[in-house]
Amino acid sequence: MKAHGHSLSLGVFGADDYDKSVAQRSTVLVVDFGAQYAQLIARRVREHHVYSEIVPHTITAAEVAAKNPTAIILSGGPKSVHIDGAPRLDPAVYDSGVPILGICYGAQLIAHQLGGEVARGTRGEYGRTQMARITGSKSTLLTIDIPAEQDVWMSHFDAISQVPVGFIATASTPDAPIAVLENAERRIWGVQYHPEVVHTPHGAAVLKHFLHTLANCEPSWTMGSVIEEQIALVRAQVGKQRVICGLSGGVDSAVAAALVHRAIGSQLTCVYVDTGLMRKGESDQVVETFKRNMGIELIHVDSGAKFFDGLKGTTEPEAKRKIIGELFVRVFEQHTGGVTDAEFLVQGTLYPDVIESGGSDGTAAVIKSHHNVGGLPEDMTLKLIEPLRALFKDEVRRLGSELGLPDEIVWRQPFPGPGLGVRIIGEVTPEKVAILQEADAIVREEVRLAGLEREIWQAFAVLPDIRSVGVQGDERTYAYPIIIRAVTSDDAMTADWARLPYDLLERMSSRIINEVDGVNRVAYDITSKPPGTIEWE
Ligand code: XMP
Repeated sequence: MKAHGHSLSLGVFGADDYDKSVAQRSTVLVVDFGAQYAQLIARRVREHHVYSEIVPHTITAAEVAAKNPTAIILSGGPKSVHIDGAPRLDPAVYDSGVPILGICYGAQLIAHQLGGEVARGTRGEYGRTQMARITGSKSTLLTIDIPAEQDVWMSHFDAISQVPVGFIATASTPDAPIAVLENAERRIWGVQYHPEVVHTPHGAAVLKHFLHTLANCEPSWTMGSVIEEQIALVRAQVGKQRVICGLSGGVDSAVAAALVHRAIGSQLTCVYVDTGLMRKGESDQVVETFKRNMGIELIHVDSGAKFFDGLKGTTEPEAKRKIIGELFVRVFEQHTGGVTDAEFLVQGTLYPDVIESGGSDGTAAVIKSHHNVGGLPEDMTLKLIEPLRALFKDEVRRLGSELGLPDEIVWRQPFPGPGLGVRIIGEVTPEKVAILQEADAIVREEVRLAGLEREIWQAFAVLPDIRSVGVQGDERTYAYPIIIRAVTSDDAMTADWARLPYDLLERMSSRIINEVDGVNRVAYDITSKPPGTIEWE
């Protein structure tokens, strides 16, 4: 590794090449009008095998033209079109001839900007609503196989009250007289409801019809096409140079490494820093999968002792994180020192990390920096390879399976960089790690056996810094409790405690107490996020 004294620049390398290659296939631009709506729409578009990209609503018509989209979708948003500073679309985009579908706020914006009317503060509609076609109207968006009356998911306050000239209204609900508006000639459509959510049963069919038929998008975006494209790109970027990848044991770095290995084989060296704070069996599995099964050159650094030494006496969560992060960087550097000719570093950065924030206040693009391997040296001059930067998490999982990674790695739940270090409250010791590893393995195994692994975002054990009295046999015990934490979530920003069946909780509890020495009590955490966080530290 070369340290030339420059700082590590994030995500620049490869982005242009990537843009060039996406320009050659159907691309749908999802214009972000705020909140989280755009990401879900973008994912749904991809489920119909069309590549999608999220752009901020401040995008100009010229910028849109430069991206040469096949279609444009205007997302929902939290604002009313009537308030000062409400986000707008550059009006010239409507004249570009590119097919447009407006959803919720996007539909209201079409009405508002093209000369129709949006009534303020009607009663609004939230949740499931019956939508009926307007008799006599000829819809090009709602095909004949979609029933005349259907359930749709609504979330709006204002409602479109008059369509712009040239448009027709084709469906309505009790509180949205114009729930669908259309202008087939200009190729602009709008729906007040949310076709992207599962609560709109015919939503997927409408999106598909818009994409494949009305907009003529090529349904060619598949994980197979992503692999081919990335292999070509990585080869072109790397040439004959050497590449380093830090494996964390997590899904993203594993899939990124497997993909880059498929492209350049033995030019890739992976480094796995075993902090001693990994889950039970995790290190063996990483070595087994990468070294033995995939034949990837892997440097396995067994550095648990160093981490325990560094953490001795430290109890404060952020101080623990800092120590672990710094040690990680040091160990990583030491052990890549031998790979002196490396020019590139692989990172498992995902699309949500790079999406420009097109927030409704129109703030400038913010690129979040995100280091999956727990922070890397500042003075590294390695260029980044980020083969997953266009992908969502579910796509990364599918890609991993397609590359032949085992389910245990592909379906692994998110695991924090500092590992079990932030699931042991207070001081971290090898003894406590051993207790937690055993208890955690039972929690995860029982969740898997109950068939709930893919429904639950994270399920794990926490070891608090207290002991309590119990009785086992005729003996009084004074031992640690284990706290089980299991949550459902889409993105870890918010989470709900998982309603695990009682019998499953009971099995976990009795197995933990019987099988793990030093534990005499089990509690279940029933806190959502907010106000709690997912992790305990
Ligand atoms: P919280 O506890 O903030 O966690 O609700 C949200 C998500 O982030 C993970 N997490 C971390 N990941 N380094 C990481 O790489 C960390 O220090 C860290 N802390 C929390 C957590 O597991 C959850 O998925």
